[in-house]
Amino acid sequence: MARLRVGVLISGRGSNLQALIDAAADPAYPAEIVLVISNLPEALGLQRAAQAGIARQIIAEPDRTVFATAAETALRQSGVELVALAGFMRLLDTSFVEAWRDRMVNIHPSLLPAFPGLHPQRQALAAGVRFSGCTVHFVRAEIDTGPIIAQAVVPVHDDDDQDSLAARILAAEHRLYPLAVRLYAEGRLRIEGNRVIVAGGMPPDIAALNPLEALASGRG
Ligand code: GRF
Repeated sequence: MARLRVGVLISGRGSNLQALIDAAADPAYPAEIVLVISNLPEALGLQRAAQAGIARQIIAEPDRTVFATAAETALRQSGVELVALAGFMRLLDTSFVEAWRDRMVNIHPSLLPAFPGLHPQRQALAAGVRFSGCTVHFVRAEIDTGPIIAQAVVPVHDDDDQDSLAARILAAEHRLYPLAVRLYAEGRLRIEGNRVIVAGGMPPDIAALNPLEALASGRG
């Protein structure tokens, strides 16, 4: 069966991109990364894409509308069906967001709607929460909003600083993002208002990221 064609937008390190590349290396994974777009030429993620033999496009265009037009062209030419934002640090043109409505996802290192925007780990520490985590969601015009597909919870320790918390959350991100994209690729997500309904329920490998969920659904 044809795999879902995914385009990934990055600005930097690209460790989430790598997690998606690694997942897609398994031919049984229902999606493949066909294009990586970066707004920064020096993004490390571009090297990861090159190593994996994935087409790359640098769009170092400060104007939001011009960026969107160029991205749209590249995505269309590559036959992209789903856009995955992975550490993409620029605001997207609202018409681009609308054009990809329900076909564009993002990963954010907090349990949204808590701590949207910049430095979510610093925000979590400042708020004193005992748990934080990461969220994969459909993208809407307002930053870090949109129907939530999946979340993974991680504890916040008393001696955490921003870096140690970010590292713990990042490890969860690398597991969650490929699983969430897989659900999309399998056509199992239905959006009802602000909620996402997963056909067949949350699969065990995602539930396993959140031990209490696994227990509650009798899968623990
Ligand atoms: C991740 O924490 C992601 O959630 C956030 O930006 C960071 C990107 O890291 N949106 P990487 O480029 O995937 O390594």
